[in-house]
Amino acid sequence: MAFRQALQLAACGLAGGSAAVLFSAVAVGKPRAGGDAEPRVVEPPAWAGAARPGPGVWDPNWDRREPLSLVNLRKRNLEPGEEELASRLDHYKAKATRHIFLIRHSQYHVDASLEKDRTLTPLGREQAELTGLRLASLGLKFNKIVHSSMTRAIETTDIISKHLPGVCRVSTDLLREGAPIEPDPPVSHWKPEAVYYEDGARIEAAFRNYIHRADAKQQEDSYEIFICHANVIRYIVCRALQFPPEGWLRLSLNNGSITHLVVRPDGRVALRALGDTGFMPPDKISRS
Ligand SMILES: *[C@@H]1O[C@H](CO)[C@@H](O)[C@H](O)[C@H]1NC(C)=O
Repeated sequence: MAFRQALQLAACGLAGGSAAVLFSAVAVGKPRAGGDAEPRVVEPPAWAGAARPGPGVWDPNWDRREPLSLVNLRKRNLEPGEEELASRLDHYKAKATRHIFLIRHSQYHVDASLEKDRTLTPLGREQAELTGLRLASLGLKFNKIVHSSMTRAIETTDIISKHLPGVCRVSTDLLREGAPIEPDPPVSHWKPEAVYYEDGARIEAAFRNYIHRADAKQQEDSYEIFICHANVIRYIVCRALQFPPEGWLRLSLNNGSITHLVVRPDGRVALRALGDTGFMPPDKISRS
């Protein structure tokens, strides 16, 4: 998967750092302590580890792209000099803002047993048209569309793409739907820990690969679209805002909705829209 995606990224003219990160593995989750009778304690995921300054404190180096962490300090010791360090830091500083649009696929046939048969409903197709029209009407120069390789995300992308001619699209397995982390409060339908263990690492890898401040080489602000799934988007939003990721299920997203994250060159993140479907007529909005 990773190799194929790296090739696709190369074809899209987007290869570079991010393709290499694809090969990195991540470890998520810890065994749960105690039995059901004990009060439930949500342990911080392993990756949150020592890197986080503390609850409620913003970690400026959340994406490990603070200029100082991009400089090889061991090399600096060999050839020291404050001026040289300053110029090297400047070299690694991001200059542009990344606008990240996370789109939830539109309504689909949930009852089909095979994934490939879980296609969009007629209403889902209409929703995707509306989302595509909305994105096109924003008048932004979109750089690329990255979409999950699941049927409903591909079909949503096919429709949205028609409204954004010339915008390159890349498919990835990293953005497929899954269970990112055991939610708190817990859900009634129990899942074995193995599910969170496996999906969690992959969805965390998607976050690390796609959500970070701009590369220092990026000169202009970018506008990127990610067409994927509710759980993936909710987890990404929690992680990007440094909110407790186990709270992902407290967010709810409409089908075909637009979530807009802004990542500034200094690493600050703002959520500009969450699950927006205000552009759809009320009778096109599906509710559960
Ligand atoms: C979105 O559509 C799916 C079926 O495709 C449905 O299960 C779900 O409840 C809908 N969600 C919302 C928030 O409308």
